[in-house]
Amino acid sequence: MNAYIRAIGVCRPKDVLTNADLEKIVDTNDEWITTRTGIKERRIVKDPNIMSSDLATAAAQEALEKAGLKPEDVDGIILGTIVADKVMPATACIVQKKLGCKNAWAYDITAACSFVPIALNNAALMIRSGQAKNILIIGTEIMSRIIDWKDRNTCVLFGDGAGAMLISETDDPDRGYINTYLKSDGTTDHILYVNQPNHENPYIQMDGQAVFKMAVKEMTTSVRKTLEMANLTVDDVDVLCPHQANLRIMEATADRLKIPREKVLMNLHKYGNTSSATIPIALYEAEQEGKLKPGQLVSMVAIGSGMVWGASLVRW
Ligand code: ACO
Repeated sequence: MNAYIRAIGVCRPKDVLTNADLEKIVDTNDEWITTRTGIKERRIVKDPNIMSSDLATAAAQEALEKAGLKPEDVDGIILGTIVADKVMPATACIVQKKLGCKNAWAYDITAACSFVPIALNNAALMIRSGQAKNILIIGTEIMSRIIDWKDRNTCVLFGDGAGAMLISETDDPDRGYINTYLKSDGTTDHILYVNQPNHENPYIQMDGQAVFKMAVKEMTTSVRKTLEMANLTVDDVDVLCPHQANLRIMEATADRLKIPREKVLMNLHKYGNTSSATIPIALYEAEQEGKLKPGQLVSMVAIGSGMVWGASLVRW
């Protein structure tokens, strides 16, 4: 028995913040943001009563509806967020309550932008071992709450959103999970971090150029490692879904791998960096646009605070 990505749901908050809007808040301009990052606009949650669990619940409900499953059919929820509803319990448990997944276990993973390969690895191995049949992995972020809106170095980069992927068992030999490569380097914990909320500076701190260089190097390595483990080559990759942090990071990664641009999913211009949610949202839109077909080899790759990085390979 193997695991496969059965259905994806998303939550893209309705309020749009464009580069022109940002020009009114900080000393920046559309030309700088577009050429340095590729971002044109991002979605923002304005209502302070809406929490990360609300976005996650909406995304998960869509995934369950698409699969024709009831909340009771879910065996587990693995949730990634850096904007948790509360310090405890895990936001996954709050989502479990909101969805009514009364037969599930639920836990959070603190891996920021690297959530998807870690969570997919967890879910797929549990399903392969027979421990579960249906697991929701949900990335959900309200990044606008941990951004210093006076800091032009960071505030232009991020956006809010959620994506939920339903991972289910399958006996189809032509599709499903293949493998994951994961790595971290805690000595780089100072290049991208957020302090505790009671700290005098509780906002995203980042050495942009250090993150940039590490992202290109390690995302390239991660994709290669997964392909080597599976005795495949970059030519076998049909679709590359990189974490959507910066257009130049994605292009440099694809170029180093020699993967043509038409195989690379990019929707960053519409949403900015939604951390744990970028890969599910990109896959969701690619599927809607007919860019993902059963049996295709899909590589997902991400890097984030820690620094933590990794890639997963699946047959769609
Ligand atoms: N508008 C206008 N000017 C700006 C802005 C802005 N929003 N932000 C910075 N600048 C200025 C800087 O102050 C600097 O001015 P100076 O030369 O007078 O000092 C100048 O632009 C150049 O700044 P650099 O930092 O050299 O610009 P760089 O080309 O490195 O681009 C960027 C900065 C976009 C942050 C880039 O380094 C990057 O994308 N790094 C990766 C960061 C990232 O993706 N973080 C997300 C989280 S991690 C992840 O998801 C992988």
